Amino acid sequence: MTVRRARPSDALGIATVHVASWEATYRGLMPDPLLDQMTVERRTRSWTQLLAADRDGETFVAVDDERIIGFADVGPARAAEDGTGEVYAIYVDPDAWDRGHGRDLMVRSLDWLRRHGYTAAILRVLDGNDRGRSFYERGGWQVTGDVVIADHCGAPLPELTYRTGLVEEPPGGSG
Ligand SMILES: CC(C)(COP(=O)(O)OP(=O)(O)OC[C@H]1O[C@@H](n2cnc3c(N)ncnc32)[C@H](O)[C@@H]1OP(=O)(O)O)[C@@H](O)C(=O)NCCC(=O)NCCS
Repeated sequence: MTVRRARPSDALGIATVHVASWEATYRGLMPDPLLDQMTVERRTRSWTQLLAADRDGETFVAVDDERIIGFADVGPARAAEDGTGEVYAIYVDPDAWDRGHGRDLMVRSLDWLRRHGYTAAILRVLDGNDRGRSFYERGGWQVTGDVVIADHCGAPLPELTYRTGLVEEPPGGSG
């Protein structure tokens, strides 16, 4: 398995993982009509646009035997001070969960943010996504207490904010 920057031709592979991972994670947490309209065709269109766009962020894909099995999308934080980046999305195909691919995508994403000068990163996770929360907490992310009520097609759903520092502590701490 390798992690590399996404190319425009990856849109279908990313969309396929996106839809499968949404279905496995959010069915029962999000309204059914919202999930029902989340099709590979629609997602491929939006990923095609995003991957072609000139933007500050970056998308990474995890590839196994030429098949995309996960992706992560990062960039500047949508609502935070300068110097804070954001992991907008990180999704692995359910058939490939718990094999370290999410961790590899996260390492690459945080490395990208660090190299682009960000000193901290945030992300948002739907309240009730226990797998996602556990994954972040195992990775050292800390819940901030900020809750955003996100509008998912008319359904207001609470999203928890997590934060992590990106600056390495010097050996021995701050003394
Ligand atoms: C969350 C997700 C990206 C994690 O990817 P993954 O490839 O399954 O996770 P990994 O195998 O890399 O696990 C990394 C660490 O998290 C731990 N972990 C993963 N899932 C866990 C679970 N359900 N419970 C406890 N720990 C878990 C692993 O043990 C591992 O810990 P370690 O580094 O100490 O060994 C993936 O499960 C996924 O796509 N979930 C659905 C989408 C989602 O919720 N995305 C986040 C939206 S905000």
